[in-house]
Amino acid sequence: MKMKQVAFLFLIFLASQTVHSWKKDEFRACDQTPFCKRARFRKPGACTLIAHDVSISDGDLTAKLIPKAPHDQDQDQIKPLTLSVSVYQDGIMRLKIDEDPSLDPPKKRFQVADVVVSEFETKKLWLQSASAEKINGDDGGLSSVVYLSDGYEAVLRHDPFEVYVREKAGNRRVVSLNSHGLFDFEQLRVKKEDEDWEERFRGHTDTRPYGPQSISFDVSFYGSDFVYGIPEHASSFALKPTRGPGVEESEPFRLFNLDVFEYLHESPFGIYGSIPFMVSHGKSGQSSGFFWLNAAEMQIDVLAKGWDAEGGILMPTEQSRIDTFWMSEAGIVDTFFFVGPGPKDVVKQYVSVTGLPAMPQLFSTGYHQCRWNYRDEEDVENVDSKFDEHDIPYDVLWLDIEHTDGKRYFTWDKMLFPHPEEMQRKLAAKGRHMVTIVDPHIKRDESFHLHKDASQRGYYVKDATGKDYDGWCWPGSSSYPDMLNPEIRSWWAEKFSYDNYVGSTPSLYIWNDMNEPSVFNGPEVTMPRDALHLGGVEHRELHNAYGYYFHMATAEGLLKRGDGKDRPFVLSRAFFAGSQRYGAVWTGDNSADWDHLRVSVPMVLTLGLTGMTFSGADVGGFFGNPEPELLVRWYQLGAYYPFFRGHAHHDTKRREPWLFGERNTALMRDAIRIRYTLLPYFYTLFREANVSGVPVVRPLWMEFPSDEAAFSNDEAFMVGNSLLVQGIYTAG
Ligand code: GLC
Repeated sequence: MKMKQVAFLFLIFLASQTVHSWKKDEFRACDQTPFCKRARFRKPGACTLIAHDVSISDGDLTAKLIPKAPHDQDQDQIKPLTLSVSVYQDGIMRLKIDEDPSLDPPKKRFQVADVVVSEFETKKLWLQSASAEKINGDDGGLSSVVYLSDGYEAVLRHDPFEVYVREKAGNRRVVSLNSHGLFDFEQLRVKKEDEDWEERFRGHTDTRPYGPQSISFDVSFYGSDFVYGIPEHASSFALKPTRGPGVEESEPFRLFNLDVFEYLHESPFGIYGSIPFMVSHGKSGQSSGFFWLNAAEMQIDVLAKGWDAEGGILMPTEQSRIDTFWMSEAGIVDTFFFVGPGPKDVVKQYVSVTGLPAMPQLFSTGYHQCRWNYRDEEDVENVDSKFDEHDIPYDVLWLDIEHTDGKRYFTWDKMLFPHPEEMQRKLAAKGRHMVTIVDPHIKRDESFHLHKDASQRGYYVKDATGKDYDGWCWPGSSSYPDMLNPEIRSWWAEKFSYDNYVGSTPSLYIWNDMNEPSVFNGPEVTMPRDALHLGGVEHRELHNAYGYYFHMATAEGLLKRGDGKDRPFVLSRAFFAGSQRYGAVWTGDNSADWDHLRVSVPMVLTLGLTGMTFSGADVGGFFGNPEPELLVRWYQLGAYYPFFRGHAHHDTKRREPWLFGERNTALMRDAIRIRYTLLPYFYTLFREANVSGVPVVRPLWMEFPSDEAAFSNDEAFMVGNSLLVQGIYTAG
């Protein structure tokens, strides 16, 4: 055989080998990620910044952060940072730290817009000059203290700088930042001659034109025994320490939206969505929360007790405490501290910043039947009638990517789906709905009107050289609309009108997938970090929010289509803080095994705790063929997910509920019927979430905050406050 042929066969062999498991090497670990590696090396007390010129201006407590010893090391590059503390109704403190725009930084750092809801600003409490009291803080150092609420105050210690909220009575701390002096802010600067800013990973080069710009700091939660939140990971609900004594050194929890093929059921690795919001809870029965509004790659360590034994930092010891360490590649410090004190209060405080979950339509809270793919109209008709034949209720039938003409979304394969409107009308006549998939990658095909229109208008994300970014996804060569741009979002939204989306009818709703965005030939299966968005914003700065903007534009499209009267239904795979306003999410491509059934519960609970109450996992497991027993157990558990959908990969055997013998059909029918029996309860809970943010499914400790046995239980959960569900996670 010739060399070329051997090499080709070898490549085919490699490709076939990798299809069967998580490809760890495809993704960067912390020590392959320079900002993460650098940050993790920092020692407590390394931060020498002190708060200077502390005053009240524009209703905020403001200061400049300057290094204590200006002649140290590389200090010529360090300019003062600006700090502001604002306080809001209901016990919310916002801390911002950024470069000073008046000192001409090389570029304005990216600040995530469109997440904080406008009503939040109306809740601001304007601090008056007289309201800042300078006193000695709990460690004797000079501090400025301002009112936060009747029971709480916000404190800025000057030297070294530290920010915290505390209870007035007893001076008990709640949440603090930089108590261990780990704060670091890499300022944008001019490149030195001998510097190389490029980063290389698996044949991809990130040009990094702006150089290092990461931010890191420590956050401590007081009176707490566990921390939760920061989806999305397949891991336990109570977050396990990632560093410190007794902990096998692990990766930090990573927040970087990625399409991870066959993700593991227990891993701190980042998957499809990111919500940088953490909640703490402890024996006192009290909770608190911390949210960092930043859409760049983030890595978060949960530190085991004693991690700082050598750091020599004095911390109040009378309260139990959990320390965490937050690192982000870019952006600014824009953080929110939530005082609780109850778990539901924390969630309410968080949604007052990021918005209430949308109220779904009743039909979407029922059972959904999906598969990649229902082949054609006949298949659809058959599946639909079998539900009736077997007396199993369901509400929505889904069409995956194969229904389109060559993965050109908003089109139909004319051979397989020649009469889409009639097909939908037949379903609608029985009160049923249909969902079709619309992904963000647009096929680069000159004869495809959507591509032609987008490219002519200059609507695509650009690569580092300024050309339309061209990546590989389902349709082959594809480009991605720049959803950061409001004009492009409204152009996208128009595509859902009945005129534009030919073959759609009022009973058709939408599924947004691959919006991390997934790019098969991109670094870590996504878009390069130096790709460019509106206003020169680098993809690295907003990566975790791309899917959020796409989901937003689609939901707005459905709203427009129905003249604002019809509540949208859009399922998204990627998400960010605030996605709860636009619809539902699911936990992506899980596997048909018992471990994945088990981990779906902490995953759904975590989503609910962080605002995304309308969520679920693929019932049955996406990859692989579930044993009938596993499938039955999955229906019995999935009937209590807020979002309840059966789904499967195209290589799997058909698994509609009537295919496994009468007894199994009866068990699955019962599970689905129980869901329908409880539908008024679910719908009421969705409304409760819609007015308060309190999730439909809740960890036990949200209802029983003082029951310590509940704190790390993630096998059982509450639906509302009245129903406890315990899944069965083992065969036999
Ligand atoms: C992705 C989705 C999966 C879908 C498939 C084809 O893998 O996560 O749900 O079936 O793409 O569209």
